[in-house]
Amino acid sequence: MKRRQFLQGAGLLAAAGFAPRAAFAQPHELEAATFPEGFLWGAATAAYQVEGAWNVDGKGESIWDRFTHTPGHIKHGDTGDVACDSYYRYREDVALARRLNLKSYRFSISWPRIQPTGRGPVNAKGLDYYKRLIDETLNAGVRPLVTLYHWDLPQTLEDQGGWPNRDVSDRFADYAGLVTQALGDRVRNWAIFNEPKTFTQCGYWQGNHAPGRTDPLAYLRATHTVNLAQGKAFRAIKANDAHLQVGTVCDVGNMVPATSSAADAAAAERWRRFLNLWFLVPAFTGEYPDGVLPPGQAHELLGFRSGDDALIQANLDFVGLNYYSPWTVAYDPKGNGVPGLDLQAQWAKIPGGGLGRTDIGWDIYPPGFYDVLMQMRQVTGARPIEITENGAAYDMGPDAHGQIHDEPRIKYLQAHLKQLRRAMRDGVPVRAYHCWSMMDNFEWSEGYSQRFGLTYVDFAHQRERTVKDSGNWYAKVAASNIVI
Ligand code: FCB
Repeated sequence: MKRRQFLQGAGLLAAAGFAPRAAFAQPHELEAATFPEGFLWGAATAAYQVEGAWNVDGKGESIWDRFTHTPGHIKHGDTGDVACDSYYRYREDVALARRLNLKSYRFSISWPRIQPTGRGPVNAKGLDYYKRLIDETLNAGVRPLVTLYHWDLPQTLEDQGGWPNRDVSDRFADYAGLVTQALGDRVRNWAIFNEPKTFTQCGYWQGNHAPGRTDPLAYLRATHTVNLAQGKAFRAIKANDAHLQVGTVCDVGNMVPATSSAADAAAAERWRRFLNLWFLVPAFTGEYPDGVLPPGQAHELLGFRSGDDALIQANLDFVGLNYYSPWTVAYDPKGNGVPGLDLQAQWAKIPGGGLGRTDIGWDIYPPGFYDVLMQMRQVTGARPIEITENGAAYDMGPDAHGQIHDEPRIKYLQAHLKQLRRAMRDGVPVRAYHCWSMMDNFEWSEGYSQRFGLTYVDFAHQRERTVKDSGNWYAKVAASNIVI
């Protein structure tokens, strides 16, 4: 919940007297949808959330190891020390991918497994784990889509300033080069980052994710280092092999103005540019989106230097988009609490705005998926889009017969997939969909309290995996290309 509250929280809009507005159209049921032959049905995980084995085979400490080992950060004091134990059970994971009829499995590489301190030569044992996982995936006839950074920065680099320190962009490019040199023969599709907005914002401004800092200026600087790193990593990967397909993954949301006033509409547009476009427009144009930074402040706020416009560019081969829920935005002259970056907007949720909420508190609004895809296409152009995450947290566990009846998740996926198909029909070039997640896992500051999986993981007993009703449903969709 906190993750999506972002600024002052949901209460703020209500306190300011904003009434829920009519802008949320109540969707009608869409017809059954048939997806094109060859569509890539997938599911996703991320290293820290599933691997465990946090300190074996030479792995270095990551910011998430440090953060979870510090009391008070994570619900119930949970950690990813063991998680789903995927470091040892990757064969079971890949068997699960087959069982779910997946065509694509998205997972990430842990930087400190490869470079324990964020620099220097490869840790061969860490690399070997990914070779085994990738070979197993390929042998199962499943395409690997590998994310280079899903939030686990080596702690040593955080000790040297972390993402706000622009030198980290060079360290990251070295890491991206090493990994793709070693694994580029096996893996063709690479995603540079996962949700740069989330890890910079929650990690350096809100403080509810690792490394837990609450410094707005550090946050803005971190966004610029990440853009530099994205451009540099792109070139490092292409220098190894120009045929590798390189993209990045951004989380996006449709911004719904809180009322029909022109001021709210303008605030929603400012937020859209800041939150949806901050890591894509620089890659495509070398500039930050207009109307967000006060004129002439890029150096002061971001640490932007002359020549950076060339460095942040990356002509990505594809774009990964994650969508979970919509946002409501209201004009607020008091601003958002980042000195110098006064967007005069507040961003939150209005209860009842969508179609209910999932267990983590995120609004459900499937038409927002359509809307945001139509908008993003204006920016991504003809590049293929992969939906790299979409899914819902529901807490159902096994019944007396060991079955997990998670009907609400089926409904969520069904409705979102129909909206996705609608967007594809209207011209959005989507080639893949990955459900978050293939299995229940460590959900960051929520620990194990939020279950997003198509598969139930019994964290209390041996991490046994059981496919849920939603997993069986999704397996049929993946086999037939039809969402009924
Ligand atoms: C996304 C993250 C992913 C997972 C889902 C629920 O923001 O990329 O790791 O936590 O949310």
